[in-house]
Amino acid sequence: MVKEPMASFPAANGSSELLRVEGLRKSFRTGSSEVTPLNDVSFSIARGEMVAIVGPSGAGKSTLLHMLAALDTPTSGAIYFERNSLEAFAELELAEFRSRAIGFVWQRHHLLPDFSAAENVAMPLMIQGVRREAALRTAGEWLGQVGLGGREHQACGELSGGEQQRVAIARALVSGPKLLLADEPTGDLDERNAELIFELMQRLHTSHRLTSVLATHNLSLAGRADRVLKFEHGKLLQATEVPASHTKSDAKAAGAEANASGERG
Ligand SMILES: Nc1ncnc2c1ncn2[C@@H]1O[C@H](COP(=O)(O)OP(=O)(O)O)[C@@H](O)[C@H]1O
Ligand SMILES: [Mg+2]
Repeated sequence: MVKEPMASFPAANGSSELLRVEGLRKSFRTGSSEVTPLNDVSFSIARGEMVAIVGPSGAGKSTLLHMLAALDTPTSGAIYFERNSLEAFAELELAEFRSRAIGFVWQRHHLLPDFSAAENVAMPLMIQGVRREAALRTAGEWLGQVGLGGREHQACGELSGGEQQRVAIARALVSGPKLLLADEPTGDLDERNAELIFELMQRLHTSHRLTSVLATHNLSLAGRADRVLKFEHGKLLQATEVPASHTKSDAKAAGAEANASGERG
């Protein structure tokens, strides 16, 4: 599957910025009261970074990820993906963005239990108009990459929690997204499976030159990301710099991009 890359602009500051969040605020009105799960949040993420979002329950992690995935809109502030403001996208472009640029892994896998592993993974491709046979073939390759080779025909409802999360990861990546977002992807798993799933995500992050943002409660896993952003009561507690390893060389990032699109073809 070769995907048309979305328009790409070099970041003004010389780094290879994929994502920028500026003054992001989100409020919900429930009855007469207002909750503000995100308040004046700003940060940027370079291509190739793996960033962990940590914070206690209710800190605003899921709200943030939903907005990064354009599943919800900010009350104020802006999100830029490759320097394009999501706000400026028309409805159709947003759908395209969600479908091709973003892969999302949820805490609960949200698989269709009666469908096979391959059918679940193939679903995003078929929604994009890829023929069933070709989509299932690509899905089978992805199942191999997540360690489920030979399990293509098994119903997802029959798989273990860790296996279901592997299918969910394959489904998130099958369209060749640039950005992988994961909301507590190991939250429902035992320690051993959490470790295995995190390792798998790290491996795929590297081999597919992804940029990844993972919300997690697990501080020891979070510590293995390139960078940790700590949230509390909707505020980003630490101003964080993009590590030098991700800002030095545009050429390196451009090379990685080219390789990644080749690999995903
Ligand atoms: N749709 C919504 N309507 C009202 N309040 C919401 C909504 N979504 C999230 N919240 C509130 O925003 C706060 C942050 O929630 P969330 O982003 O889910 O936190 P986290 O993922 O860090 O646990 C919570 O107080 C939650 O109740
Ligand atoms: Mg959450």
